[in-house]
Amino acid sequence: MKLLISFFFLVSVFHFCSASDYATNYAEKGEAAELKILTLPVTSDSNGLSYDYYYQSCPNAEAIISRKVKEWIDKDRTLAASILRLHFHDCVIKGCDGSILLNHEGSERSADVSKTLRGFEVIDDIKAELEKNCSRTVSCADILTSASRDATVFLGGSYWMVPYGRKDGKVSIDEEADKMVPNGHEDITSLIELFQSKGLNLVDLVILSVQDRLYNYQGTGKPDSTLPDRYLNFLTRKCRWASEYIDLDATSPTSLGNEYYKNLQKRMGLLSTDQLMYFDPRTQPLVNALAYTPQDFYPQLFGVSMTKLGNIVDPEVQQEGEIRTNCNYVNSY
Ligand code: HEM
Repeated sequence: MKLLISFFFLVSVFHFCSASDYATNYAEKGEAAELKILTLPVTSDSNGLSYDYYYQSCPNAEAIISRKVKEWIDKDRTLAASILRLHFHDCVIKGCDGSILLNHEGSERSADVSKTLRGFEVIDDIKAELEKNCSRTVSCADILTSASRDATVFLGGSYWMVPYGRKDGKVSIDEEADKMVPNGHEDITSLIELFQSKGLNLVDLVILSVQDRLYNYQGTGKPDSTLPDRYLNFLTRKCRWASEYIDLDATSPTSLGNEYYKNLQKRMGLLSTDQLMYFDPRTQPLVNALAYTPQDFYPQLFGVSMTKLGNIVDPEVQQEGEIRTNCNYVNSY
């Protein structure tokens, strides 16, 4: 019964999402290839991105990105989560424009909030390969967006189609990252406001937050008084050494699924922002609904919210931006 109620609750909440979000979300990569031809418009709605952007200029772009992502994840599975996190940090500031990849003094990448970001080498490697195949064509922002979709699929998530055509931004400022990117100490109202300012809603917040649970969190802060004693003892033992890594999800750190929400119900959220989602009356009904969502359904919801995240673009960057030849630097020509 609980399962049925939560299913209908989520379905009704998702009526607020646009139809195009659904159109781009499919259960399986195989299915997507067929549906791609049958149902999708060539251009996505309002942001000028399109599904056939590289159709002529770099037809193998997606295949190259996917192959490279697989190669890296086969070597180190934790990189999948790191790529998703890079994408989130990128899109929060001036839209998805590859600004997080710029590697100069005072760039977003050198901000405090970026200190534990990983996976830059994956994007550099993909870019180098794409430059060999179709030089000066595929933006770093598009590479990061596409790689995030592929990383999700490798984590057991659903496939969705990515529209392309993002430009690479030329501006990247560390202070903006420290001001905008959440660090886990915010209250729920600030997170809701941040997400809303990016065109993302309450559901996207609760759905996307599950990513924080994948793999590890270094240097956890002070114990939260809401943690149950047994879990607190475990964390205290683990956190004796500054170098110790902690799974952000107590029971399912390596896969995408609703276990995270069940743990929040048991007060086993590690970041205080995560646990607050269970205590806040605006987000608690969603946490409860997601805890009882059928396992197969959750990845679909995740794909919808990720699509929205990846489609955040800044019109100014789209006009003034470029296609970088090296993701670390603005072009010198
Ligand atoms: C909603 C607000 C969010 C907050 C407050 C938040 C905060 C954090 C914090 C504090 C960490 C630990 C960093 C460390 O190890 O020092 C973390 C890790 C992580 N975050 Fe977030 N985050 C948020 C949203 C997101 C979103 C939307 C995504 C992806 C779609 C994401 C992906 C990740 C991943 C994958 C990790 C683990 C990285 C790894 O193991 O390499 N986060 N986050």
